[in-house]
Amino acid sequence: MKISIVGSGYVGLVTGMGFVKLGNEVIFVDVDERKIEMINNAEPPIYEEGLGKLMKDFNGRYHATNDYREAILNSEVTFICVGTPSREDGSIDLTYVKQAAEEIGKVLKEKDSYHVVVVKSTVLPGTTEEVVKPILEEHSDKKAFKDFGLAMNPEFLREGVALRDFLNPDRIVIGVQDERTREILEELYQPIDAPKLFTDIKTAEMIKYASNAFLATKISFANEIGNICKKLGIDSWKVFEGVGLDHRISPHFFRTGIGWGGSCFPKDVKALINKAEEISEEPVILKAVVEVNERQPLKLIELLKKHVPELKGKAVGVLGLAFKPDTDDVRETRAYAIIKKLLNEGAKVIAYDPQAMKNFKQSYPDVGEKIVYSESAEDVLRATDFVLIVTEWGEFEELDYSGKIVIDGRRVRAAEKNAKIYEGVCW
Ligand code: UDX
Repeated sequence: MKISIVGSGYVGLVTGMGFVKLGNEVIFVDVDERKIEMINNAEPPIYEEGLGKLMKDFNGRYHATNDYREAILNSEVTFICVGTPSREDGSIDLTYVKQAAEEIGKVLKEKDSYHVVVVKSTVLPGTTEEVVKPILEEHSDKKAFKDFGLAMNPEFLREGVALRDFLNPDRIVIGVQDERTREILEELYQPIDAPKLFTDIKTAEMIKYASNAFLATKISFANEIGNICKKLGIDSWKVFEGVGLDHRISPHFFRTGIGWGGSCFPKDVKALINKAEEISEEPVILKAVVEVNERQPLKLIELLKKHVPELKGKAVGVLGLAFKPDTDDVRETRAYAIIKKLLNEGAKVIAYDPQAMKNFKQSYPDVGEKIVYSESAEDVLRATDFVLIVTEWGEFEELDYSGKIVIDGRRVRAAEKNAKIYEGVCW
């Protein structure tokens, strides 16, 4: 099939290249000239495992452009994969989705054949039908579900393993209304062996929010139990190993520590809270889930102060700045709150991350410019005796922590074994 992808950010690129791998031809549409040029040179504009190789191997089966007309006239299905950032109050900013719908609508006006528009961006229930559909209809002068197809198909891609998640998902959720659209999307996803759940459009939108909110809840719940375990001298990882053996619960996503960050969980949970309040529902659990998550990183400092009561003037090492390993992404990273608190206490921060130092400095200039960046993790250990582990990069397992006071937010076994003093946040 010929597919166009509007928005060649993280989700767009991975989805597009996944469809290329399945045998389709893809045109990426973006406004960012730098990204367009990189894609056309088969260079990935983001760091994601396997993406560079896929782009090289399938060079010629995809290209990028800033021209909506070219992309939509030359494809049968268009995926909207633009960002839906959080506003200051936690509500969702639909500017890019609206712009994309307008541009697509204008081209649909001159298109004779049936075209399917699929919203992949994470949007709150009702958005596809109440916001995207009217814009498409207004600019195309056509009727959705009759003259063109419209669907909602959320993504469940984890950074770092996103291509694998695309090609081997637990499930594919497709919200549709008209039979023709359903058939086209069924055919498109036919090569992927996974349960396919067809729902109405707003149910598909809600499945994405409920999934992310549940996973965030699972971690915050585990961390709350983990904090209790810590005080009682119990290893919460063992506890959740035992809990997870119950097949109704499942053992995954129970790693206790300093909580969740990233581009999805924080934004989606806050947007859901905001929506609930807008419709006069009180999201008691969701609010607590966020609260636990905000407190959790500061536990590291509390534990450090048990051993070093006065941080003023002390050099403290921070290992890891990315929100999780194997990515350069620092969005909502736990490192920010931790470093901010360390600086407030008058400590001197020496940090290292294999991929995310540049992004951290740019994204959080208020603290990012006040810390020292090391060339390597070994350099951090040479420079200070006090080390906080914030992200569980594989290479941190290779270090010699002997003689150090290590406070670990993620459970690095080498540190647990070798450090002079070792404190795990929930174990
Ligand atoms: C997540 C979802 O997993 C994915 O389905 C969705 O579409 C986008 O958001 P991602 O943000 O890439 O993916 O990261 P993920 O691996 O899920 O981790 C999210 C955060 O939770 C990280 O900060 C991670 O450190 C933390 N986490 C995860 C835990 O603290 N404990 C766990 O057991 C699992």
